[in-house]
This record gives sequence, structure tokens and C-alpha cells, in this order.
Amino acid sequence: MGTGIAQVAAQAGHSVFIYDTNDAALALSKNKLESTFNRLVEKGKFTAELAKSILARIDFEDNLRSFSSCGLVIEAIVERLDAKRSVFNTLEEIVSESCILATNTSSLSIAAISAKLKYPERMLGIHFFNPAPLMPLVEIIPSLQTNPEITTTAENLISSWKKVAVLAKDTPGFIVNRVARPFYSEAIKIYEEGMADVATIDWAMREIGGFRMGPFELTDLIGHDVNYVVTETVWSQFYYDPRFKPSITQKRLLESGLLGRKTNRGFYDYRENAAKPNPNTDLKLGQEIVDRILALLINEAIDAVFMQIGTPTDIDLAMIKGVNYPKGLLQWANEIGLQTVLNRLVALHDFYGDDRYRPCPLLRKMVAESAVFQV
Ligand SMILES: NC(=O)c1ccc[n+]([C@@H]2O[C@H](COP(=O)([O-])OP(=O)(O)OC[C@H]3O[C@@H](n4cnc5c(N)ncnc54)[C@H](O)[C@@H]3O)[C@@H](O)[C@H]2O)c1
Repeated sequence: MGTGIAQVAAQAGHSVFIYDTNDAALALSKNKLESTFNRLVEKGKFTAELAKSILARIDFEDNLRSFSSCGLVIEAIVERLDAKRSVFNTLEEIVSESCILATNTSSLSIAAISAKLKYPERMLGIHFFNPAPLMPLVEIIPSLQTNPEITTTAENLISSWKKVAVLAKDTPGFIVNRVARPFYSEAIKIYEEGMADVATIDWAMREIGGFRMGPFELTDLIGHDVNYVVTETVWSQFYYDPRFKPSITQKRLLESGLLGRKTNRGFYDYRENAAKPNPNTDLKLGQEIVDRILALLINEAIDAVFMQIGTPTDIDLAMIKGVNYPKGLLQWANEIGLQTVLNRLVALHDFYGDDRYRPCPLLRKMVAESAVFQV
């Protein structure tokens, strides 16, 4: 992620330092940037001169001391609170008081990372999506202690990098990693119950739902180590709310080392000569699958509005620009009709008796008032 973020900043005209404790990672980062720019020149996206000048703006450092002149540092190291705190403590001894400190963390709280800083008011989350040069979304996450002027400066800076900046509250999963949970977990539950197999669920979400990838092919691509850990982290940080409960099926894949594409096996088998499963293309079944997963996704988006995690506009924008959803979930809810979404959730809640399906109070309120989302 650090390499991708550095590329974005250098393309926007900044001088950039990349630092890593691991020399091999630093060398890999350099190689990766050189081959990326070679490819971009071959494709005609940049002239050779421009690519050369962008690369010349990036320095690879094995010592944090070189960061003394930085106006902004974006940390994208290993996802461990102690490691992140330690790197920021060191940085505070090096950078000037006006330097903004940011973390690209996906799952740790900004409050916890910044709590031990001398000047916590200059720190916030600037959360990119993978791959950073291609995905337009960046979540800006102030902590309780962040100076609002720093938040505004970060929003303006990221927008000037031709990214879509959305403001998110410092809560587990911020916007995207919270709202997207049912895309994976409800799909796995449908599979576990035997309502449909993975190929059929993927087919339904792609062909009927309009999503770019189905949940199983996508989690196989992300890797079950990464995807499962995000789900478990969000769930535990929400004090084990059943809405975010991880699945045993995915945990077993993880335990077996069947991590997806990177190990050649996950929900699908990618080994040579492995048979490719055919979906059951029954339209009625496909629609039922999409309606169920979509109802939970919309409920999550509405809950994010209710809990003031972001504005309705930002929540819709985040899902389109961060994870390529075909439509904003609140816009989708307006189109389906909020009453219909509520009916689906109530039916699931009644059938399962599981709080995972409880409709958000804001949905009930809006239905009672015949309101729609302004997005
Ligand atoms: N991978 C993603 O899709 C993604 C998306 C958004 C955010 N993030 C977040 O970005 C961060 C990095 O993720 P990644 O996938 O790039 O991880 P990664 O493991 O690929 O890279 C982390 C790098 O940090 C280096 N490192 C470890 N400790 C260090 C230290 N103390 N000082 C300097 N360098 C150190 C490692 O050598 C490694 O090269 C994490 O916080 C993660 O949650 C990842």
C-alpha cells in the first residue's frame, strides 16, 4: 500500500520519501514503481520524460531521519497497534510541529494510535483502497482529538490528488469495511444453508445484482487471511454484534491454508485441470439471493447514516468509488422502495429469530414518514 500511496503523491507533484525497516521490501517497492511507470509509458499514459521526473521525486530511505522536512507522513506499515504507535513516537522526534501525521490503517482506531502522541491534534486517518493509484476513494478519519483544520487540510489535499475524499467517523471499519460486511457474510450464510452453491451465488450477484465480482470470487482474490481478519476485527470491536458475525466456513478455509487465488485454492479450485463449477441460472433463485444480500447491505448503509458515520452522499460515494458497487446503496434503497427493504428484513428476522437481521430504526422511521434518502 505504501508504494501505491507514494506513487499517487509523486504523480500529484510532491517529493516523496519511502521508508521501510525491511531492505528487501524497499528494493521491491523501487522495482515495482519502475516497472509500473515503464508500463504506463508503453501504454502512452505518460511521456518517458514525465515518468522519469515523477520517479525522480521518490527517494527510498533506510532511515527515518530523512523525514525531517516532510509536511505530511502517511504510515502504511504492518497492522499492529504497538508498531504503529512506536513509529509515530519516533517520527514526532524528527518532523516539525506543523507536519501532519496520518495512518492508512484499515481496522485500528485512530484514537488508539494517536493517544500517546505529544500532539495528537495533528494526527488522523487517511485510508486508501487497494490498489491506491487506481481506486479513487480515500476515507478521511479524524480522531476525537484531531484539529478540525487538519481534517479540512487533509480533505483538500486528497481532493487535489484527484481522489474522492469522504469523511468518516473513527468507528470500526470506518465506512466501506463496515457497510460491505454482508456482501461476504450473508453470501457465505446462504451457501452454508445450502440455498445455492458458490458459483450460483456469484453468478446472481454479478448478472442480476450488477456487481463486478461475486462474493466468493472476490474473497478468493482478496485472500481469506485478509478478509476473515477484517470481519472478525469489525465484529469484536462492535462488542460481538451478531450483524457482523464471521463464518465458520471461512475460518476453516483460513485454518486449512486455502487462502484463495494466492494458494490456488479457496472457495474455488484454481489448480490446472480443476473443473469449473457451473451456476444454476434459475432467475427466481438468483433474484432471491440478490434481494437477501442487498437488503442486508442497505440496512448496514442506513445504520451508518443513523450512527452518523458519514453523510448519505458520502456513504453512497464510498461504496461506488472504494469497492466498485454498481450503485450507491441508499440510492438503491430509494429505487427498490424503503417499505420493500423493510419487509424483506422483517421476514428474515421473523424466520431466523436472529438479531443479525434486525432492521435499523432509521429505516422504520423513514418508512413511517414515507421519506426517501437525499443522495
Ligand atoms: N492491503 C490492503 O488492501 C490495504 C488496504 C487499505 C489499507 N491497508 C493498510 O495499510 C497498511 C499496510 O498494509 P499492506 O497490505 O501494504 O501491508 P504489507 O505487509 O504489504 O506492507 C507493510 C510494510 O511495512 C513494513 N514495516 C513493518 N514494520 C515497519 C516499521 N516499524 N517501520 C517501517 N516499515 C515497517 C514491512 O516491512 C512491509 O514492507 C496496514 O495498516 C493495512 O491495514 C491495507
